[in-house]
Amino acid sequence: MKLQGRKIVLGISGSIAAYKSANLCRLFIKNGAEVRVIMTPSALDFISPLTLATLSNHEVVHSIHEGQSWSGHVELGLWADLFVIAPATANTIAHFTHGICSSILDAVYLSAKCPVCIAPAMDLDMWAHLTTKANMEKLGSYGVQVIPVEHGFLASGLTGDGRMAEPEHILDFVIRYFEKKQDLKGKKVMITAGPTHEKIDPVRFIGNSSSGKMGIAIAVQAQKRGAEVELVLGPIGRKFNSYPGLTVHNVISADEMYETCRSLYPTVDIAIFSAAVADYKPSHAEEFKIKKADQTLNLHLVKNVDIALELGSVKKAGQLNIGFALETNNELENAREKLTGKNFDLVVLNSTKDKGATFGSDNNKVTILGKNDILVQSELLPKTTIADIILDETINLF
Ligand code: CTP
Repeated sequence: MKLQGRKIVLGISGSIAAYKSANLCRLFIKNGAEVRVIMTPSALDFISPLTLATLSNHEVVHSIHEGQSWSGHVELGLWADLFVIAPATANTIAHFTHGICSSILDAVYLSAKCPVCIAPAMDLDMWAHLTTKANMEKLGSYGVQVIPVEHGFLASGLTGDGRMAEPEHILDFVIRYFEKKQDLKGKKVMITAGPTHEKIDPVRFIGNSSSGKMGIAIAVQAQKRGAEVELVLGPIGRKFNSYPGLTVHNVISADEMYETCRSLYPTVDIAIFSAAVADYKPSHAEEFKIKKADQTLNLHLVKNVDIALELGSVKKAGQLNIGFALETNNELENAREKLTGKNFDLVVLNSTKDKGATFGSDNNKVTILGKNDILVQSELLPKTTIADIILDETINLF
């Protein structure tokens, strides 16, 4: 009974693979889950709602008629621990990607507060199409998890990729999902990430090339581990959207980042300062573009607020502050100074001497310092793995 007590909403869209959803529903229930089923109108052409209602022991939601109200169904997205859409057709995937709300399934997706995973099902050419690929990528960036399609005989008579995963494989995926650590459940985590831009004039700024990837990886992993995440993100030049459990606060300057963090900080359990905040800003931003004139131009810079330092000074018992230190020399000594100076509980040290761990890379190599000891000296690893290591060490402090 590996799904005992789990609440699953099973969404079924109109594909021939819908006939397998009956078996999937049965497998969820046999493993102890409580299941509610939502079908799109076109799914009704492939399988009878009576079959699913009988298996799930609950009325199937498929329309807003017959006394079924929208708001009642939207509550399903709040009730569920997991929303599994199997099969997810190209059409349903496109709806989810673009926020098109033309069925009760779309409405529940858009209002779901729980994690969502989809088991795509379509013909091989549709699956290979650039539009589908782009949609899948976008859904991934919204935090939607994908149960990989399988290779084999398709309803069109062709053979290739695009078959919905077998119900047993979907069941495995869901069991593995629930077995994953939820060790940050009930915790609120604030993470600063990316650079800040300090305005010189309407078209220029002082900034740096931080990609925000490390902070985003921490935010994504923390959400997966059950935390409520507040990501305070500087201008990284690409969009990163909020999704259930992870709220993005887009900011530009250090002052804006500070104001956002200051208002969030009193309610957070863990604050992780991974942003590459500009240390200085122009004393004032020019109203108009500075014109080219003399051989030299002096900018008068003033110190920016030190966000980690300020919030470290108001840290309460039970709160943990995790800092980063980017160093070129005297690494351990400088990192230790930041640990005590900014009232951090841990410092994640990056050395510019480590090849492959530079700004913008998908990998990182870190040393994690605790109050007394070096706790971790990692290899060069993907940033998601490093994110989990940082979260492991943080949780050890509670
Ligand atoms: N930090 C911050 N606000 C600032 C500067 C830094 O919150 N204005 C945080 C960073 O996010 C990081 C830590 O403080 O967690 C250390 O940042 P780092 O840039 O390595 O050091 P600085 O304190 O800026 O000192 P220096 O640049 O002299 O090494």
